[in-house]
Amino acid sequence: MTDLRQTFQDADQGHVFRFWNDLSPASQSKLMDQAGQVDLELVGLHRSLLAPGETNVEAPQFHPPELFPAQPEGEQIPHAAKAHARGVQLLDDGKVGFVLVAGGQGSRLGFDGPKGMYPVGPVTDASLFAWHAARLKAAAIRHGSKVHWYVMTSASNDGATREYFAEQGHFGLPEDQVHFFCQAMVPALDLQGRILLAAKDEIFLAPNGHGGTLHALAQSGLLRHAQDQGIETLSYFQVDNPLARPACPLFLGLHSLAGAGMSSKVVAKTDPNEKVGVLGTANGQLGCIEYSDLPAESRDARDADGDLVFRAGNIAVHALQTEFVDQLTRDGLDLPWHLARKDMQVIGDSGTLESTAGVKFETFIFDALAKSPASVTLEVERRLEFSPVKNAQGSDSPASCRLHMTELFAGWLQATGLPEAQRDTQGLVLLEVDPCFAEDEVEFQKRLPAQAAKQPKGTLYK
Ligand code: UTP
Repeated sequence: MTDLRQTFQDADQGHVFRFWNDLSPASQSKLMDQAGQVDLELVGLHRSLLAPGETNVEAPQFHPPELFPAQPEGEQIPHAAKAHARGVQLLDDGKVGFVLVAGGQGSRLGFDGPKGMYPVGPVTDASLFAWHAARLKAAAIRHGSKVHWYVMTSASNDGATREYFAEQGHFGLPEDQVHFFCQAMVPALDLQGRILLAAKDEIFLAPNGHGGTLHALAQSGLLRHAQDQGIETLSYFQVDNPLARPACPLFLGLHSLAGAGMSSKVVAKTDPNEKVGVLGTANGQLGCIEYSDLPAESRDARDADGDLVFRAGNIAVHALQTEFVDQLTRDGLDLPWHLARKDMQVIGDSGTLESTAGVKFETFIFDALAKSPASVTLEVERRLEFSPVKNAQGSDSPASCRLHMTELFAGWLQATGLPEAQRDTQGLVLLEVDPCFAEDEVEFQKRLPAQAAKQPKGTLYK
């Protein structure tokens, strides 16, 4: 105990124990356990990042990535067909594993519980987790293969997530094919680089960002597990986008044909002022360029067709080779740290809760793109594949997500010539299509004749 406190003292973090004498033996031991797990070297590195950086660093040269378009043309058409067939084969052979990241704190949504439990199904109120599960179930049915689902949590939601899956019977997926792993947490610091306390006996910890997925996969043994199952490619997606289509043959096939280590799906950004990161190269290295880093003239630049030059809006859907992740993590993966400055509720010197300006430290998955020898960037239609739940209200909220989902499904129904589904009092079409029934308009049309006669108007297609 004395040694640990001395180590903290030496690292100029001795204040972590300033309420020691007020604590019960149980609380003292809780704080000790937590402090024993803190990587003080990493905290020192984080502290150094708070110092003002050099101001005369040259701005990087940005270039847009080569995009495989949503509507292929010319030679892209047979290539897309070949890629689709390759993707189907990979899925049929069970060579694709699915990684869902759900370790975030969902602070903007302000939901009491893991974000994945948030109800989004317009008719069923199915949760985000249930939606993703349905897509994977649909993939297992379509491809007649085993689907292994790797779900990343963090200490703040791991227990509640596992309980929820158990309560829901793993949404009908075989329990031994659903695997949980927990990302690491790192201490949040104040603006002077001092570790913050969430309580007198508790260090303020935050998940280390979705970049933590790679290490956590390797350290949990699940990367090895995936490789042992013959899984070559991991399909990565985020919990907050129920339109994500993780078993997409075209994307997986393009990635495979290119011999890529890591690839991405993007949606076209149409408004230059939309505050979304875009994929592109910075001094030749592929990654995600933050909205605020892109100079205004690049942000507004348009090509001969009038499209934005930097339009590859990042939707955080990736394909990663297990071999690529293995190599990265074996050699000591070194992703850059990003700083998120926020007001946080912490225990101040007076021993009471107060709001303080603090900094959280995260690594981002897209920074691994720079390490991939080859990469595919596939543009997909936003209305088909991207409607995230980030905020409690307004854009990117549960309401906007439900609206996008129902508009999409209503479009499929309309194309069949059947009567429109009912609308609720807010004008929302009461319509939901289970992914096991159909994943797209073409499949919906094929499946419908048999079902149409049986279904009452405006309801769930399942
Ligand atoms: P966001 O960056 O939108 O964060 O995460 P969030 O936690 O959902 O919400 P805010 O910012 O606190 O409001 C995008 C995706 O990455 C996952 C989230 O669970 C979400 O699926 N994520 C984020 C992690 O798994 N771990 C992290 O450390 C951060």
